[in-house]
Formats: sequence, structure tokens, C-alpha cells
Amino acid sequence: MTRKIRKAVIPAAGLGTRCLPATKSQPKEMLPLINKPAIQYIVEEAIESGIEHILIITGRNKRSIEDHFDHNIELENVLKNRGKWSHYKEVLDIAEMADIHFIRQKEQLGLGHAISCAKVFVGEEPFAVLLGDDIIHHSSKPALKQMIDQYEKYGQSVVGVQEVATENVSKYGIISGQKITNHVFELNDLVEKPDPEDTPSNMAIVGRYIIHPEVFDILEDTKPGRGGEIQLTDALKNLCRAQGLQACQLEGKRFDIGDVWGYIQATLSLAIEDEDLERKLQYFCRENFMNEKMFSNNR
Ligand code: UTP
Repeated sequence: MTRKIRKAVIPAAGLGTRCLPATKSQPKEMLPLINKPAIQYIVEEAIESGIEHILIITGRNKRSIEDHFDHNIELENVLKNRGKWSHYKEVLDIAEMADIHFIRQKEQLGLGHAISCAKVFVGEEPFAVLLGDDIIHHSSKPALKQMIDQYEKYGQSVVGVQEVATENVSKYGIISGQKITNHVFELNDLVEKPDPEDTPSNMAIVGRYIIHPEVFDILEDTKPGRGGEIQLTDALKNLCRAQGLQACQLEGKRFDIGDVWGYIQATLSLAIEDEDLERKLQYFCRENFMNEKMFSNNR
């Protein structure tokens, strides 16, 4: 089997209940982080990692994702006629960013079910998965590229992991296995949302995967698990038993923007990357927070 990862799947069909009512009629993946929708950061990470073809799994109320990556001729003409060349180029670049395909998951039956909708697109090659609501902010190498480098060396399916506090393990899929280099783990099992007392490790699966195509046969036989949903973790446990599975400890700061606090953290972290916004934010915080007049218990 080829070791080149050319295709990526971005599941973005979830209901986004943790961000309601913002996500009642718009996808959480389109929530802006500074001036870009969250999903654009994910697509850019895939492209920077060498991905050539992208499939975005969408659902009802997700039309704006397709529109975002399409041409908007009216807007392009207005920007051109008004000589707003930098905005014109920016808008044009998004429409021509990559070879992006879309498919609808007709019922929200879980992440495993969403991935199974990609079977025809993927075919017989290993592929990447990037969750549409997990932003991993990196300084040198994109998170997916770190995993692709590992895959090219070892040839085994990979889950991206990061260390979490023991009290938070029950929110994640947790790996069980041996560390073989300073960022590579050989796994013997995955445990979905363990109790902190029983957790096999503190290494949590974050939203990046490289998976062999045999997972599609496994998904067909995977019964609904926790919450009545078809869980990707359940299928990966079987893949681990059948052909082995590794984890890659990812560098970079990860934000779950499907959670209100994660969304706020992502916005602030990206703001301080921009010199002008950082200066304004510092001034704003000094003015409003230092004397605590914005905190509700002082109102
Ligand atoms: P989440 O576990 O965050 O679920 O999905 P959710 O429904 O999106 O959000 P909450 O928990 O109700 O707030 C993890 C990823 O899997 C996708 C989501 O879009 C997200 O990228 N997903 C989940 C699907 O594509 N389809 C599904 O049926 C479920």
C-alpha cells in the first residue's frame, strides 16, 4: 500500500449542541476565529501538510461551508471594480484553495458513521481525518504533517494525541500502549472516556487521524456505542487489534472550538499572534480587567 497521504476527510456534520443557540442555523465550523471561519484553518492545515484532495462531510444547515469555498462572482466583481485588490485576491484564493468535495451525512449517527460516508472518495489508500472543530495552532510544523512524517516512516495508522490533566481524561478517547520514541507510541488499546481512577494513560486523542482503508469494512460491522452513535474509536480499537495502531504526540496548542470556552481561548490566542490586535487587546485588558470593573461580582 502506498505511504503517500493525498486525501483528507473533514467531518463537519455534527449538531454542535454545546454552542447553541449560535449553531441553531449555522455550522459551528463557520464560526469566525478573528476574520476566518474555523474550517478554513483546518483546510489550510491539510494543504500545508501536502494533501491534494479534501472531502468535507456536511449535513443540513451546512450550505454556508460549501458557499465559503466556492466563487462569489458578485462580490468578486464589486471588489475588482472598486480596486480593492487585496480583498479581491483573498476572496479568489479561498475559492481556488484546493480540490474540495462535499457529501452529506443524512442522519447524525456519529463520527464513525460520518467517516463511512467517505468510502467511495477514499478508495483503497490510507487517508487523513481532521475534525472540523479542532484547531491545532502550530509554530513550526502543522499537526497533520507531524503525523504524515511518522506514517511515512512506520506505515501504521496513527492517532494524534496530547497530554491532558487526569481529571479531564473522561472527556476523551485515551490510548494504552508503549512509548517507542519521544513522540511515537505503539498502542495495544484505546479506551473511550475512562474514569480518572482507571485510565491507562493521560494521552488523549485529539482530532487528527491517519487511517488505513480497511477501517471502512470494520465500520460496516461496528454497532452503535455510547449515545447510540457509531463511534470511530470503536472501529479503531478493532483496527488496532487487526493491524496495529500508533499514536503521535502532537506539538501545538489545541482548541476545541465546539465548546464555548475553547472558542474564546482560540480567539484570544490567535489575536495575540497579530501585532496590532495584541497591542489593542493589551490596552483593552489593562483598561477593563486590571481594575476588575468588568467582572460581574464587582458590578
Ligand atoms: P462532536 O463530538 O463535537 O459532536 O463531533 P457535535 O455533534 O459536532 O457537537 P456537540 O457535542 O453536539 O456540541 C466531533 C466531530 O465529528 C463530527 C462533528 O462535526 C465534529 O467535527 N460529526 C459528529 C459528524 O460529522 N457527524 C456526526 O454524526 C457526529
